Amino acid sequence: MDTRYVYMDYNATTPLRPEVRDLMVRALDVYGNASSLHALGRTAHAEIEETRANVAALIGAKEASAVYFTSGGSESNNTVFNTMFLIGRKQARRKIITTAIEHPCVLNAAAHLKDEGFPVVFLPVDRDGLIDMGAYRAELGPDVLLVSVMAANNEIGTIENIGEIARLAKAEGAFVHTDATQAVGKVPVSVEEWNVDYLTLSCHKIYGPKGIGALYVRQKAPIEPLIRGGHQENGVRAGTYNNLGIIGFGEAARLAKEELPEYRQRVGGLRAMLRDLILERIPMVRINGHPVHALPNTLNVSFPGAEGESILLSLDLEGIEVSTGSACASGSLEPSHVLMAIGLGPELAHGSIRFSLGRYTTEDEVRYVAEKLPPIIARLRKMSTVPLEELAQEIR
Ligand SMILES: Cc1ncc(COP(=O)(O)O)c(C=O)c1O
Repeated sequence: MDTRYVYMDYNATTPLRPEVRDLMVRALDVYGNASSLHALGRTAHAEIEETRANVAALIGAKEASAVYFTSGGSESNNTVFNTMFLIGRKQARRKIITTAIEHPCVLNAAAHLKDEGFPVVFLPVDRDGLIDMGAYRAELGPDVLLVSVMAANNEIGTIENIGEIARLAKAEGAFVHTDATQAVGKVPVSVEEWNVDYLTLSCHKIYGPKGIGALYVRQKAPIEPLIRGGHQENGVRAGTYNNLGIIGFGEAARLAKEELPEYRQRVGGLRAMLRDLILERIPMVRINGHPVHALPNTLNVSFPGAEGESILLSLDLEGIEVSTGSACASGSLEPSHVLMAIGLGPELAHGSIRFSLGRYTTEDEVRYVAEKLPPIIARLRKMSTVPLEELAQEIR
């Protein structure tokens, strides 16, 4: 097979869908300020409200008005943590429970509250990435203000039991937030079924444009603006509307909902095929993430004796785009905090690759990757100074 271009980094971001792109090109002329009362403004406003309804439908929200537009997942998550800061600094109920495997935008927002004197707990997870429910129950109490647990992990794909986590938190009167940035569009997401107060999602993970996302806020749950100014979004998020991004988001959300069953089946099948081919052709590997409760598109694999960055660059030379840990963590020399949290040692964590498949992945691409990968791993393992048998202990 010749060198070709294979994108397998869909968890980092997704390409713009042609359908969304076409709509956005047409929407370039929807320049009216959605807050203006004249016809142009009303047209923009109507488009924005249509998107709000599509996003609400995608996350199973009854009320479209519970959806607030933001610039993306990071802003949505920070808006929730900032709200908790403003509430918690005035009362005794101020404990925050989150997990050790959150995206850095949650980890750092939580760490900031800790610096400000809030009690913050980063729950441990098991070998598969599920939060330790025993530790969670032990931390719950009347002093807990917020429980924030991601719906699905971006690096290993493990899906947490948000419904049960929320049920336990609610029994103590705590607010519940879930960062569903990686779950939306890949598995069913329902704010009603899960009974969460806040849910974060981001458009560029569902084949829409970057720089636009949303925060769901349950009626009566407190919310404070991160950006103050005009009255947009009921005062929760000031700033002239990003018409173009929002219109693209609406179409991306509509298509994501419509195509979810087909996506899960097709992409899940391709992921299983890639996993099986890797297990068949490469000895001594570890598949990270939960074997059942996992995203259909995410395959994180540890290759003892081969260094992750070297694997990534070798694959890149073959036209294959993957990631070591999360995109945000790459470039840092620290091993992935998620892989360390599931108990991998630094050697193994450094030797791990995330293949994240998507809507445009084909069987042919999976075969191409499965053909190019084994000689790369074999070559890198030959250069390893640590005996393979020693590293093999770690994969159990
Ligand atoms: C789980 C998770 N949360 C939040 C984000 C941040 O979203 P955004 O890029 O829209 O700020 C990401 C992006 O990688 C993510 O994977």
